[in-house]
Amino acid sequence: MSHDFHTLRVAEVKRETPDAVSVRFDLPAALRETFAFKAGQHLTFRRDFAGEEVRRNYSVCVSPSEGVLKIGVKKIAGGVFSGWVNDTLKAGDEIEVMAPHGSFCWSFDAKAQREYVGFAGGSGITPVLSLMKTALATEPHSRFTLFYGNRNSVGVMFLEEIAALKDRYLDRLSVFHFLEEEEEEIDLFNGRLDRAKTDEILSSLISAESVDAFFICGPGPMMDAIEEALAARGVEKSRILIERFTTGPLSAAQAAAARALEEKAAGLKMSVTLNGRRVQVAFDPEKHSILDNVRAAGLPAPFACKGGVCATCRAKVTAGEVQMKVNYGLSEQEIADGFVLTCQATPVSEGVTLTYDV
Ligand code: FES
Repeated sequence: MSHDFHTLRVAEVKRETPDAVSVRFDLPAALRETFAFKAGQHLTFRRDFAGEEVRRNYSVCVSPSEGVLKIGVKKIAGGVFSGWVNDTLKAGDEIEVMAPHGSFCWSFDAKAQREYVGFAGGSGITPVLSLMKTALATEPHSRFTLFYGNRNSVGVMFLEEIAALKDRYLDRLSVFHFLEEEEEEIDLFNGRLDRAKTDEILSSLISAESVDAFFICGPGPMMDAIEEALAARGVEKSRILIERFTTGPLSAAQAAAARALEEKAAGLKMSVTLNGRRVQVAFDPEKHSILDNVRAAGLPAPFACKGGVCATCRAKVTAGEVQMKVNYGLSEQEIADGFVLTCQATPVSEGVTLTYDV
C-alpha cells in the first residue's frame, strides 16, 4: 500500500448521536483507486494540534458497494482528535488522509450461503456495520446476526440505519440491542456484553458451530470475554475476526522485559526499505522501537497508534529476527508471512532486513 498522505475535502459531517458523527469525503476521480477499500478497513488521519502532529485511525462505516467513503468518529473523553472532528470539522474543510488499510476483512462471495455474527460495542459498530452491509449486499443467500451493546439508547450509533437495514433484509438480518443503563422486559438484553451474556447468547440465540465468521469490535474487556466464550466452545481462531481500537499500557513486568530487550539490541544493524529507498540503521535503545529508529534515520515510516493495534506501521522482515512487545494488529497468517508491527518491534539478531514496501 502507499503510505503517502492525501488531502481530502469533507463532503458532510452528520451527527449520529450526541457524541458521535459520521464524516463523508469527496473523492476526486484521480484518488478513487487509491481510496478503494475493503469492508472493515480504516483510514489514518493526521493533523497538527498546537504544533504537535497527531495521528488517528477511524474505520469506514460503509460498504464498498455504496460508492462513498465515510467514517464514524465517537468523541472520547480528552480525545484531541475525536473532539475536534465532533465539534469543529465541517463540510468543505480539508484533512490529510492515508489510503485505506487494515485486515479486519473477509472474502465475500456472491455464491456463498453463510452465517455471520457481529458483536459490536459502542463505536465498535463502525467496521462491523461496513462488514454487515457488505455481507448482505454481496451475498444474497447469507444471513447476519448483530449483537450490539451500548450504555443507553441515546448513544446508539447508526440506530436508524440499522433499523432500515432490518426492514430491507427482513429474512437475512437479525439485530439484538443490549443496553447497560436501561431496563428491557427481557433480562438477556439488559447489561453489558460480558462472558455470562455471551454464553447465554451462544446457548439460546445462535449455534456457534454453524457460524462461518464472528466479527468483533468494541471495548477490550467485551472483546476478551467474547473471545473466551467462543474459544470455550471450540470455535477455531480462523472464524473469529477481532478489531481493536485501543489497548491498555504494558504491565510493569512486560515493560521491564521490553526495556531489557531494547538494551540488549543496542547497536544491532538493520537494513530498511521504504518507498524504494534503503537505509542502514543501528538500533538505539533510547528510541525504543524499530519504527522510531527508522524515522530518526530520515525515512518517513508510517504509523498511527504506536500501541500495537492499528497495524499502520506494518513491515515485512526478510532476514534476521525481531521480537514484538505486543501485537493486537496482525493475524497469525501475517506473522507466519514475516510481517511485524515496527512500533512494537526490537531486533534480536544482527542483520535484520525489513521493508515497508509490501
Ligand atoms: S502504529 Fe499502530 S500498530 Fe504500530
